[in-house]
Amino acid sequence: MTTKPILISRNMSVGYNGKPVMSQIDFSLDAGKILAIVGPSGCGKSTLMRVLGGLDEPLAGMCELLGVNVEESNAQQREATLRRSGFLFQGSALFSSLTLRENIEMPMREFLGISQLQIRQLAEYKLALVGLAEAMDKLPSEISGGMAKRAGIARAMALDPEIIFLDEPSAGLDPLSSTRLDELILKVRESFGTTIVLVSHEIPSILRTADFCVYLDSDTGTMGAYGPPKDFLLASSHPKAHAFFSQIKIS
Ligand SMILES: Nc1ncnc2c1ncn2[C@@H]1O[C@H](COP(=O)(O)OP(=O)(O)OP(=O)(O)O)[C@@H](O)[C@H]1O
Ligand SMILES: [Mg+2]
Repeated sequence: MTTKPILISRNMSVGYNGKPVMSQIDFSLDAGKILAIVGPSGCGKSTLMRVLGGLDEPLAGMCELLGVNVEESNAQQREATLRRSGFLFQGSALFSSLTLRENIEMPMREFLGISQLQIRQLAEYKLALVGLAEAMDKLPSEISGGMAKRAGIARAMALDPEIIFLDEPSAGLDPLSSTRLDELILKVRESFGTTIVLVSHEIPSILRTADFCVYLDSDTGTMGAYGPPKDFLLASSHPKAHAFFSQIKIS
């Protein structure tokens, strides 16, 4: 059986007000894979993630998500694509006045035509999945940063998306919490076959989780390399990506 890519980017430029931040983005990703977007701070990772997720249009080139060309699609198709995608935005916070369960229930109430009881059970299931069954009635102010990230992933998973976009999910976490989050990301993919696109600075985390990696080169303003992260670590055919991945010492 041949699998059709779930995400395709062809010679794409992304940016603001007609000015490209990043160009020549060219790759395709099969369903069920984990893609990491990496590069120096401010190079355009979040900008690219929003376009790949269908939230913003590319300045040039083509982006196809879940078989829908973002630019050529109508409002109805876009909404359907959004409904099949989940997002955890950079630095995104949970609603502070709602408990974790209520935070996860919110998108369900908006989009799922099911009873309150079913919504409650589904939200509890999603929180149990991310290891927060005990904390579901807590407010965001009563939990740790690692727990908040896990709750954010549960919220991104609320509507059983086929693909989730996570912008710096492990930023600010200690190494142990970061490792646990990587394990959660791998578990989500294994349990549901979810495709995952994540932005990360954490090289060990990328090596643990990602099948493929888009390396953004801020000097040229283009995609410097695309491939499995281990290849960039081990080989120097893409010197800048190699230098980026070689920042860590492998013991
Ligand atoms: N809404 C916006 N309007 C105009 N320019 C923007 C907007 N958002 C971001 N930029 C600019 O686009 C460039 C890329 O920003 P982006 O947030 O995508 O980078 P990043 O790689 O995600 O950075 P970081 O690693 O700090 O998260 C930056 O120069 C930024 O100032
Ligand atoms: Mg960013």
